[in-house]
Amino acid sequence: MDIMLDQALKKLRNENILPGQVTKIGEGAWHRVYKLEDLRDEEFVLRIKKKEAYGEVQDFDSDELCSEYESTRSYYQHANESCSNVCPSFFQYFIEEDLVFTLETFMGIGQDLSLLTNKDAISYGKRLGYFFKKIHNKSPVIKGFGNLYWNGETLQGNNHQSINELWEEDNDHYIKILYVLNHSKLDFNKENVTENVNDLIKCRRKQIQEVSLVNQDITPENIILNTGKISIIDPFPKLDFGLKYAAYFVFCYKFLLPSFSNAPRYINNAYSEKSGILNDIAEGYIKGYFHDMSLDEYTNQVKRLMDEYTLWMLQEAYEHYEVLHEEKLTNKIIQQMGPREVIDERLNLIIRELETLCSRRY
Ligand SMILES: Nc1ncnc2c1ncn2[C@@H]1O[C@H](COP(=O)(O)OP(=O)(O)O)[C@@H](O)[C@H]1O
Ligand SMILES: [Mg+2]
Repeated sequence: MDIMLDQALKKLRNENILPGQVTKIGEGAWHRVYKLEDLRDEEFVLRIKKKEAYGEVQDFDSDELCSEYESTRSYYQHANESCSNVCPSFFQYFIEEDLVFTLETFMGIGQDLSLLTNKDAISYGKRLGYFFKKIHNKSPVIKGFGNLYWNGETLQGNNHQSINELWEEDNDHYIKILYVLNHSKLDFNKENVTENVNDLIKCRRKQIQEVSLVNQDITPENIILNTGKISIIDPFPKLDFGLKYAAYFVFCYKFLLPSFSNAPRYINNAYSEKSGILNDIAEGYIKGYFHDMSLDEYTNQVKRLMDEYTLWMLQEAYEHYEVLHEEKLTNKIIQQMGPREVIDERLNLIIRELETLCSRRY
């Protein structure tokens, strides 16, 4: 048996938690995951932090680990208060230099996406949109904005500027990256893209968004679809603008996941083969997210969401462009984005998408 698993089970026994049968059920980039049967009449999972991620040994940083797991705890609580039992209701973590793990409610085994019918995918998407809207609508209890960190007593956002300032900065950021891309050697319809992004940002500045507790890791690996039930696990929360992150979900499912299929990290997920299903999930998500709106309001909100989608495309173009300027790509970047040629090829695809989005605008 795995030594770390053995140690973790010993720790649990010391706490009088006596697991029955133990089965490995999953593995992500950061955790190995085991199901523990019949523990206090409930099923749990044990998520053991791997010592190596992306081929590199991870330094032990207890503050960082506390921030990570307190953020997860806080997201689970916030989400469950918004829509009951969408996340694990039990969550505990354990941090020691040679052993780090979480114990949390088992949320079922997820259905394989490729086995979903289009109708199922739309329906799951709708429920996801409905849930995320509720999660975004609930006022966060955590103060501040941006990435979360644990200061020993509470979780806080790492940015304490006023919302108006943050909104201005967010808008200015897109204008800056547009400028960088415009002054690059990249070949695209710069005039059209510039005109469209400038117009869009001009409107956007007047429509400040609500700050929500958002989840930056909404890939299918972290969403369990199980016989009609949906669960969200392994979140990567931050405080940011709600509609922007609603659009991020749509951007991931419609574009990003299929386009990252050729990166080593995602190759086994074969997202490009599932692009139809992912697209249906995204279409359902939009309907679910704006389910309570009149037709006029719905049309207006979908337009705003698609503007955010265009900005995510712009951001992705910029990130690919910047990475290609690094002298040497780190192993983590190669794992996540692919080698240089693949990044270059994807940048081309992103630029073409950006052109299309901008030529199609209203
Ligand atoms: N609470 C849970 N209930 C059911 N399955 C889980 C749970 N947590 C993790 N898993 C399974 O284990 C896999 C990897 O776990 P995850 O926490 O996402 O790891 P990582 O942090 O490395 O991404 C998930 O994709 C899922 O299949
Ligand atoms: Mg995960």
